[in-house]
Order: sequence, then C-alpha cells, then structure tokens
Amino acid sequence: PSNTMWGGRFTTAPSEVMERINASIDVDRRFYAQDIRASQAHAAMLAECGILTQDDNTAIQDGLERIRQEIEAGEFTFSAALEDIHMNVESRLRELIGEAAGRLHTARSRNDQVATDFRLWVRDTIDALDALLADLQAALLDQADAETETVMPGYTHLQAAQPVTFAHHLLAYVEMLGRDRGRFADCRKRLNESPLGAAALAGTGFPIDREMTARALGFERPMANSLDAVSDRDFAVEFLAAASLLGVHLSRFSEEIVIWCSEGFRFIQLSDAFTTGSSIMPQKKNPDAAELVRAKAGRLVGALNALLIVMKGLPLAYGKDMQEDKEPVFEAADTLALALSATTGMVRDMKADRERMRAATTKGYLTATDLADWLVRVLNLPFRDAHHVTGALVARAEADGRDLAELSLAEMQAVEPRITEDIYEVLTVERSVASRRSQGGTAPERVREAIAAARERFLS
Ligand code: ARG
Repeated sequence: PSNTMWGGRFTTAPSEVMERINASIDVDRRFYAQDIRASQAHAAMLAECGILTQDDNTAIQDGLERIRQEIEAGEFTFSAALEDIHMNVESRLRELIGEAAGRLHTARSRNDQVATDFRLWVRDTIDALDALLADLQAALLDQADAETETVMPGYTHLQAAQPVTFAHHLLAYVEMLGRDRGRFADCRKRLNESPLGAAALAGTGFPIDREMTARALGFERPMANSLDAVSDRDFAVEFLAAASLLGVHLSRFSEEIVIWCSEGFRFIQLSDAFTTGSSIMPQKKNPDAAELVRAKAGRLVGALNALLIVMKGLPLAYGKDMQEDKEPVFEAADTLALALSATTGMVRDMKADRERMRAATTKGYLTATDLADWLVRVLNLPFRDAHHVTGALVARAEADGRDLAELSLAEMQAVEPRITEDIYEVLTVERSVASRRSQGGTAPERVREAIAAARERFLS
C-alpha cells in the first residue's frame, strides 16, 4: 500500500530517501497545539454551515482533544512516513474515531492549514518575546535608577568624547528595545489575518464561513485573496527581520559589556552566575554570556537570509520549498528567548564601579566642549573660533600631560586674553553633565524624568 492520504493514484511506496527529504514532522510537530486548535475551529464551522453533521463534529472535537492530550503526555507516536504534523494528527484521528476523521479535511488543504498554524504560532511567540523584552527593559530601568549620578566617559569612535551618566547610557538601550517591541507588534498586527478557507489555492465550492473561523482563532479577518493566503510567508520574514535587528541591538550591548569588563576599563563587574572561569588561569572571570549573546546575532541574521532566499523567485501559489520556512523561525525564536534571558540576568546582577568610571572621565579632555561653549556663551565667540581656541588649550595641556583644569589662568589668557577665572567652573565633569539639560540629554534631573517616562511608556 502506498500513502493513506493520496494512495489512490500511486502504486508503489516512496523511496526511503524521498521520505526523508519530504518529512517535516521533526520540525512542525512543534505547532501541534495550533494545528489542533485550527482543526477544531474548522470542524465547528463546517458543522455550523451544514457541511458536517453535529455527530461527526462532536467525534472530531473529542478525538482532537484526546490527541492533544496524547501528545502532551508524550504518548503520541510521530511517524515520518506521515510526513508532517497535519497528516500525523489526521491519521491518528482516523484510528480513534474512524470514518468521520476523513470528513475533517473537507473544504481545506494542508496549504491553508499550514499557513494558519504557522501564523498562530508566530503570533503566540511574539507575545512571549514581548514579555521577555519588557523584563529586560525593567532590569535596565532598575539599574538606571541606581546610577543617575554615576558619571562615565561617553564615546564616539570609542574615543572619550563627553561625560555622560551611566543611567543615560542604559536608557539608550531601553529605547532601542522599545522600538524592537514596536516592530514585533507591527508584524503581529499585519499577520493577524486568517488563511483558513483559502483551501489549496483557489478557495472552495463548499458554503463555508471564513469569518467564523477567523473569529474563533482570534484573527482580525480572513485574508482577502486565496492565492496570497497560501503562498506568502512575508509575516515570517518580518518576524525574522525584527528578530535580527533585536539581535543586533543585543549584540552591541553585549560588546559594551565585554569592553566594560576588560582590564583597561573595569567599569562594571558581572556576577559569578553570568561569567565563567578558566581551566588554566585561576584569576580569570570571563564574560561568556555577553560574548555568546554578541555572537547569536549571526544566527538570527542567518535565519532571515535563509528564508528570504527560499522565498525569492517562487511562483504562486504553494511550493514545497515553503516547508523550509519553519526551521529558521523556530531557531530564531529559541535563540532570542535565550539571549534575552541571559541579557536580563547580566543586567540584574551587574555592579557598576563608580570610582573607576569617574576616574576615567578625568582623562581624555572630556570637558573641552564645555570650555568651548563657555567661550561662546560668555565671550560671544563664534563657535568655530571657540573650537580653535579650545584646541590650542588642549594641545597646551597635553604637551605636559596635564588636565584642562590644571592650566593656569595666565596660560589660558596667553591663548585668549579675555578668559576669566569663571571658566574653571565648567571644567568639572559633574558640571558638564548637569549642564546638559536639553530634552533627551544626560543631566541627572533629565534622566530621572526619562526613567519615569520610560516606565510609563513601556511597563505600565
Ligand atoms: N508540511 C507542509 C509544509 O510545511 C504542509 C503543506 C503541504 N502541502 C502540500 N501541497 N504538499 O509546507
């Protein structure tokens, strides 16, 4: 006997290799719950529309429920010969309830079925990831609360630029993560339409009610075009694009954590729980979690690439190529969940070394911009001239390894005679940071407002 689903046209069974390349059960069994849920909605609708008897519907509902329990109890035998989750479930249903099982697939194809299951799964996954993203934002905000007065060098080109507060730096990531959540939410909104009832590609002659199944499954509406419904995977691509970008954000943050833990910086300490030792060097405490999160972005971008390339050039409607859509999405979702949890753990446990951060701000002429701004504000110099004067003062100080505040007034006046004693006031990093009160700026009072606003926007 060949296949029980389509054996009618076939005389011999598939080769063993064919079975292996064709089977997706090891991957798509993961959305068994969505598959069963969608089948239950479909059967209920068929009964409501008079296409299925109430007795058959009841048998199907109960049988599917029992299959769900078998799978969850680990008692279900998945078979590669039955290819995928859809046929594994249907075949078991036939064993359980007999002939009525064969009526479930009326007015449906695996094409609209798989598209429906996959959308439901991505939707559930987005909701789970959103909660993990909110957890990470909360951890960052809690750290920020404690570090609003902690000054550190802000960098451009990884060269010390201007002093900022550690809280301000952490809040930058809270914003990025907020946009990541927005991207997933956009993806969720667009994917939330029901392919069910598109059947193989053209719709069906049975008098079905697509609104009803859409509603039952929590979709906003049925998809408008049956060909589109079964053949696009743009929702999965969007999911992977959002995942990749989030991965890039996490990777940048991890890189900073690695830098901050390095000997030259020592701005933070990670906990023992999120570091590892060395098997040979007893002194080592390595930021492995951060390094792994930094690397995971590669997998995420790889998954996005893989699916885009699968989809490129595919003619409408369904092609088996599309069976390759699930693995990258599942892998990306698992990778992200782990990377988010690891990042949240690191942030919750990290300890800022305030003295080391403060000390680092005394090197690198971080308040040079403040000095130039003083020349503009007090002496009314054009900014370009002030920039030039300040550059000359930095060169003077640098020549014998002094800080700007260590230049005497006479030395300063040698460059610009109108400079007065008042200028020293703007040369401390605390003054510098406190002065940056513009909206979104690093002044502690602004940052405290920003923390409160972020809690309101993201966590309430
Ligand atoms: N396992 C298949 C997939 O994931 C289900 C759809 C099969 N449809 C078909 N016409 N062969 O794409």
